Amino acid sequence: MTPVRRLQAARAYARRAIWENGRTVEMIETTLHNGSAASFSGDALVVGYAQGADGLSAPLRRLDGPLDGALAAAVASGEITGETNEVTTLHTFGRLPVQRLVVVSLGQRDALTPERLRGAAGVAARALRRLGVRQGGWALPGAELGLDAATAARAIVEGTLLGLYRFTEYLSKPPGATMLERISILSDGAGDHTAIEQAMRVGQAMAEGTATARDLVNEPPNVLTPRELARRAEALAARVGLTYEALGPDEMRAAGMGALLGVAMGSAQPPRLIVVRYTPEGSGAGQAPIGLIGKGITFDTGGISLKPGADMHLMKGDMGGAAAVLGAMHTIALLKPSRPVTAVIASAENMPGPEALRPGDVVRAMNGTTIEVQNTDAEGRLVLADALCYARTIGLTPLVDVATLTGAIVVALGPYYAGIFSNDEALGADVARAAGAAGERMWRMPIDDDYTTLLKSDCADMRNVGGREGGSIIGAMFIGHFADKAPWAHLDIAGVNYATTEAGYQPKGGTGVAARTLAQLVLDRDGEARV
Ligand code: BES
Ligand code: MN
Ligand code: ZN
Repeated sequence: MTPVRRLQAARAYARRAIWENGRTVEMIETTLHNGSAASFSGDALVVGYAQGADGLSAPLRRLDGPLDGALAAAVASGEITGETNEVTTLHTFGRLPVQRLVVVSLGQRDALTPERLRGAAGVAARALRRLGVRQGGWALPGAELGLDAATAARAIVEGTLLGLYRFTEYLSKPPGATMLERISILSDGAGDHTAIEQAMRVGQAMAEGTATARDLVNEPPNVLTPRELARRAEALAARVGLTYEALGPDEMRAAGMGALLGVAMGSAQPPRLIVVRYTPEGSGAGQAPIGLIGKGITFDTGGISLKPGADMHLMKGDMGGAAAVLGAMHTIALLKPSRPVTAVIASAENMPGPEALRPGDVVRAMNGTTIEVQNTDAEGRLVLADALCYARTIGLTPLVDVATLTGAIVVALGPYYAGIFSNDEALGADVARAAGAAGERMWRMPIDDDYTTLLKSDCADMRNVGGREGGSIIGAMFIGHFADKAPWAHLDIAGVNYATTEAGYQPKGGTGVAARTLAQLVLDRDGEARV
C-alpha cells in the first residue's frame, strides 16, 4: 500500500468507528414510581411551578411544609416568578430526603399545554446535567394543572430526552459525559399506571426517533453523502428490525427516473433511492402500506443556478425530510403499530459539476412527464417527482412527503411553523391533528389548480418553477402532480428543520421536526387508541 492509500484507509477506519459509535443522544433511563415527591431521595427533584391566582398548588404545598415555607418565600420575594422555563435551585438541608429542589416555571396555569411542559422538562434536564445530578426525580403534575397524568408523563419523558440531546461527534474535546443516569417520575399514586407507563414508552420512542433524525441533519455533508445516508438507513433497519433495499443509478435508469438522475448529474456522488419497510406481525400485514417519502439532498449548492454564499453551509440540512422519515421509521419499529409503513427516500447531491443539469434542460420522470428545468435550485421537487412515482408503483397509500422544499414557506410561516399541503381533506386534517398531538407546529396551506397553470412550459409538459409569489404552493402543486389521484400530503419543513438558537427541548442544530408527527399519524391510524 502506498503511504497515501494507507492514510486514506486509516481515515476511513476512523470514520467508520465514529459511525458505529452511532448514538449521540444520551438515552438515560426514565422510570415511574408510585411514591410521593416528598419521599424521593435522589440528588435533585424537579417540580413545576405554574402561575395562578391561588399561590402554591397542593403538591407544592406538601413539599413546602417540611421546607418551613422556603418555596412560598421564594415566590413571595420574586425569586420564583413563574416565567416560562425559569429555573430556581433550592437546597433542602436535610429537611427533605432529596438534596435539592429544581423548580422549573411553567408560565400561566390556565395556559399550560403538554408542549409547554415538554419545553420545561428539556430546560430542567439540562439544569440537572449542569448540576452533575445522577439520580433525578420529577414530581408528575396532573389534575391540579389541568393535565391528564399519562399526557404529562409522556411530555416529561420526551422533553427530558430531547433536551439532553447534543451532537459531539466531531469535537476533539467533547464535553464531559453526562452523569445523569435516571429520572424517576413520581406519580404520588395518581393516574392509571399502565396507561402512564405506555405513554412513557411512546415518549421514549418518539425522542429516540427524533434523535436519529437530528443526528442525520447534524452530520457534515462530506460525511453524509447519498451512499452514506443509505448505509445509515441500512444500519438502522438492521438494528431495529426493518427491511432495507436501495436503488443505484443503473436501476434508476432502468426504471426511467430521469428527474432524480438529472439532479445527481452535477455531483461525483452517485444517488440512492432508499426503501425501508416496516411490516407488522399478524393480520395487519396484508394492508396497503402507508408511504412516507423524504427529500434527501445531502447538500444543495443550487447547482448551476447557484445559491448565494451566505449561510450556504446550512444546506447540509437539505436531507431533513429524509431524516424525519427515517426517524419516524425508528419510532414505528419500536412501537409496532398494526399498519405496514414503507419509507421511500430520494437522495442526491445538488452540485454544479461538468455534467450538471443546465437551466433549459428537459428531463423525463418515471411516469413519462417531461420537465423543463428552468432553475436547477428547484431540485427537491425533481427528486420527489420520481420518488412519488415509485411509491405509487409499489402500492403505497396514502403518500406523505416531507421536504425542506422552499424559501417561500420560510417567508410565509417564519421559523416556527411547517406547512401542510394535501389533495385530500381528511388526510390533511389527520396530519394537522397528528402534529398537534406530537407537539409540532404545522399550519395548513391551500392547494389549488390555478397555481398549476404557472407551471406551464413552452417546450415540455411542465417546468420546475412558476414565479416567486406563492412559491411554497407552486412547489407543492408540482409534487402533487406526481401523486396523481392517490391521497397525498406534503410537509414543507424548510423553515423549521434547523434551529439557530436553543429553546426549550430544542438545542441548536437539526430539530428532527416531522419525525414525531409522521409516527403519530401512523399510530393514530392504528385503530387502537394508544395515548
Ligand atoms: N433547499 C432549498 C429550500 C430551502 C431554503 C431549504 C431555505 C432550507 C432553507 C430548495 O432546494 C430551493 O433551493 N428552493 C428554491 C426554489 C426556487 C428556485 C423555485 C427556493 O426556495 O428559493
Ligand atoms: Mn435548491
Ligand atoms: Zn434543496
